[in-house]
Amino acid sequence: MIYAANFKCNHTRKSYEIYAKELDCIIKNHKISDEIIVFPNSASFLNGNFSFIQGAQNFYPCKNGAFTGEIGQEILDEFHINTVLIGHCERRNLGESDEFIKEKFEFGVLNEYKIILCIGENLDIKMRGKTREFLASQLDLIDLNYKNLILAYEPIWAIGTGKSAKIEDISEILSFLATLFNGKILYGGSVNSKNIAQIKQIKHCSGVLVGSASLEIKTFCELFL
Ligand code: PGA
Repeated sequence: MIYAANFKCNHTRKSYEIYAKELDCIIKNHKISDEIIVFPNSASFLNGNFSFIQGAQNFYPCKNGAFTGEIGQEILDEFHINTVLIGHCERRNLGESDEFIKEKFEFGVLNEYKIILCIGENLDIKMRGKTREFLASQLDLIDLNYKNLILAYEPIWAIGTGKSAKIEDISEILSFLATLFNGKILYGGSVNSKNIAQIKQIKHCSGVLVGSASLEIKTFCELFL
C-alpha cells in the first residue's frame, strides 16, 4: 500500500523536521514495508536520507527561469525530489487547466518523475450522474501508459470535509478507472483511522492520499501501523 501525506499549506520547516525524524524512526522500528510519501510545502523541503519519500505538492514545468513564485526542476533536484503531485483540485481551483496539467505531466515524464495525478468530480457532477464521463475527460490528455503514473481518485466533496465517499461508491469508481488504467490507484478524501480498514480492502485500491489526518504524526501513522 501507498500512504501519501499531503500537508498542503501546513507545517513549517521546523515542525516538518521533527515530523520527518519521528516518521523515519517509526518506519524503521516497525519495519514498515508500505510506501510512505510526504508532500511538505516547498519552503520546508529537507535534505536527508529518510525511509519515506519526500515529494513536491507542486512544481512549474521548467528547469529554472523567469517564473516568479514557481518551483522548477533544479530546485527539486537539490532535494532529490522526483515524486510529484499534479491535478489536485486545490490547484485546479486556482486556475490550473487540464492543458496545463498535461504540460506538467509531460515535463514529469521527461524527467522520469513518479507522478501522482489527482482527479475527482464535484458534487454537482456526482448528483447529475456524470462522474465516470467527467473522470475520463480529466484523463483525456494524459498518457496512461506512463510507467511511473499513479492515479488518485479524490471526490472534491469528500476533501477536508471529514466525510469520505461511501465504500461502495469508491469501489465502483476505482473499478471503472481500472478499466482505463493499468497502474496503481489511490483514494483520497477524508481518509482517517476510522475508515482506513475498509478503504484498504477495496479492490483496485493501492493506497491513500491523506490531508487532514496526515498533519499529526500520530493520526498519520495510525493508518499503517
Ligand atoms: P483530506 O485531504 O484528507 O483532508 O480530505 C485529502 C487531499 O486533499 O488530498
